[in-house]
Amino acid sequence: MQDLLLNINKQRLPTHIAIIMDGNGRWAEEQGEDRLFGHYHGVESVRNIVEGCAELGIGYLTLYAFSTENWDRPKNEVDGLMTLLVETIRKEVPTLNKNNIRLHVIGDMNMLPEFACGELQEALELTSKNSGLNLVMALSYSSRWEILNAIKQVAKDVSTGKLNPEEIDQNTFQQYLCTKNIPDPELVIRTSGEYRISNFLLYQLAYSELYFTQTRWPEFRKQNLYEAIIDFQNRERRFGKTGNQIKAEIQN
Ligand code: IPE
Ligand code: IPE
Ligand code: MG
Repeated sequence: MQDLLLNINKQRLPTHIAIIMDGNGRWAEEQGEDRLFGHYHGVESVRNIVEGCAELGIGYLTLYAFSTENWDRPKNEVDGLMTLLVETIRKEVPTLNKNNIRLHVIGDMNMLPEFACGELQEALELTSKNSGLNLVMALSYSSRWEILNAIKQVAKDVSTGKLNPEEIDQNTFQQYLCTKNIPDPELVIRTSGEYRISNFLLYQLAYSELYFTQTRWPEFRKQNLYEAIIDFQNRERRFGKTGNQIKAEIQN
């Protein structure tokens, strides 16, 4: 197989890639295994893709690991997933540091069990000096929760006089989102053949390029990532303008 890496234009890489890692449960069930078996194998894909992004020099990688709605899954799956996520993050800290990767977490941390909050906090601090890839884990995250949370904070600041409603623009509002200081994703990948967003970064995805693949998350590897990036690089991003305007901008 030809290495797709050679076909990637290094000058036109997305700064921020976000991935909806889906299909762990079905992948496991297809081989007669328990759903948690799929989540364990999904960790191998996470390692591979984080490494792939770091090697390419991608600025931000956001991984949707657990949604607010996922709390409604059967208790044994929720408990197993939480333990797996927290233990993996803890175990990976030395590798993150070795590769200069900084960890961030977005989501409703109040819903996480106490042990998880402590472990996460420690991992965030231990990697906080790293200046390479920013790895953003979306944990107990949902976009509607994030937007409502932001609106509550905005309302509070307006009521105390800290914020003038007339002066609220997109930049101001972004400061109230979990993703403040993080650029919007240019490329969003969803695995496992589902064509939906499932409450992920609804505000930030306004102009993202969406890429869907049938590959289940436990089988997703660097070559699949390269395929998505090449697909992204062949698209024309118009942001509401005409194709001719965009071509003229590129020439100038
Ligand atoms: C993605 O795989 C991981 C999480 C949502 C936590 P799923 O667990 O959703 O797997 P499927 O979609 O049921 O196959
Ligand atoms: C989205 O996957 C959430 C994560 C990947 C963490 P789900 O499997 O929960 O989404 P739906 O329920 O199929 O939309
Ligand atoms: Mg799923």
